[in-house]
Amino acid sequence: MKVRKAVIVAAGLGTRMLPASKVIPKEILPVVDKPAIQVVVEEAIASGIEEIILVLSPGRTTVHDHFQPATELERHLEQRGKLDMLDFIRRTNNPVRFTTAWQEMPLGLGHAVLQAQEAVGNEPFAVMLPDDIFDGPVPCLRQLLDVAEARDAPTVALLRVPRTEIPKYGIVSVRSVESRLYELTGMVEKPPIEEAPSEFAIMGRYVLTPDIFALLVEGKPGAGGEIQLTDGLLALSQRRKLYGYEFQGTRYDLGDRLGFLTAQIGFGLKRPELADSLRRWLKSALRESESGR
Ligand code: G1P
Repeated sequence: MKVRKAVIVAAGLGTRMLPASKVIPKEILPVVDKPAIQVVVEEAIASGIEEIILVLSPGRTTVHDHFQPATELERHLEQRGKLDMLDFIRRTNNPVRFTTAWQEMPLGLGHAVLQAQEAVGNEPFAVMLPDDIFDGPVPCLRQLLDVAEARDAPTVALLRVPRTEIPKYGIVSVRSVESRLYELTGMVEKPPIEEAPSEFAIMGRYVLTPDIFALLVEGKPGAGGEIQLTDGLLALSQRRKLYGYEFQGTRYDLGDRLGFLTAQIGFGLKRPELADSLRRWLKSALRESESGR
């Protein structure tokens, strides 16, 4: 299969990051100095994606606006000779073809993905959830695409999570195929710890085939009364082979306060102009906090 399109779901209410997300969509909150949505779009482009379908909720157009030209700001930067900043800003102007789909009601992730059906059409596509961002030598989506293309089958990202975190995720049961690669034999959304089939959680990167749409249409509300993508995946796995890949790299959960903080530090330490000063500050902050205990 050849995957050209990625659906990025940015329609959530962001309740876990309130009050920061009261006015600003959580996808616009920064990772160092880039909105999370831009980090995800850059991952898509680096993975070879040619078209992005943003699923947004009504009234929350800021995510889309971020990728539009900002004429006044550009003129200002040009006049002041701030050419490096001008270059940064211009790089966010439609770096790839964008389409927007709307999720009128917050009826769940499966329902959000379904809103992209018309824009996706009858071809395989990726789904990216901007709460999850990744750092590693090969973009997480590219790693999944390599598996999906080689096996000609839908593939999702997997991460082993501590048992206490199991109820936050879609959890899969697996049959090992080769190093890091599993065939998915079952899955359940946000199970209680004692009912979890494994410690493998689905992370927010998926490569899917368009037959998932019909299964989402048929889908009944699941965990939390929402139409769950995980339930659609389970139905899909009963019709065709579905793989899970334990990706290589670090994942941050931007929808969570600790994940948001560690992402700033993790990505900050990767920035050559910030790394030395940040490392020095971290060392002294740690010493101070430990001596104050
Ligand atoms: C969603 C999915 C869940 C997956 C998670 C990854 O949950 O429903 O299966 O494990 O993303 O981040 P949410 O974070 O929207 O509650």
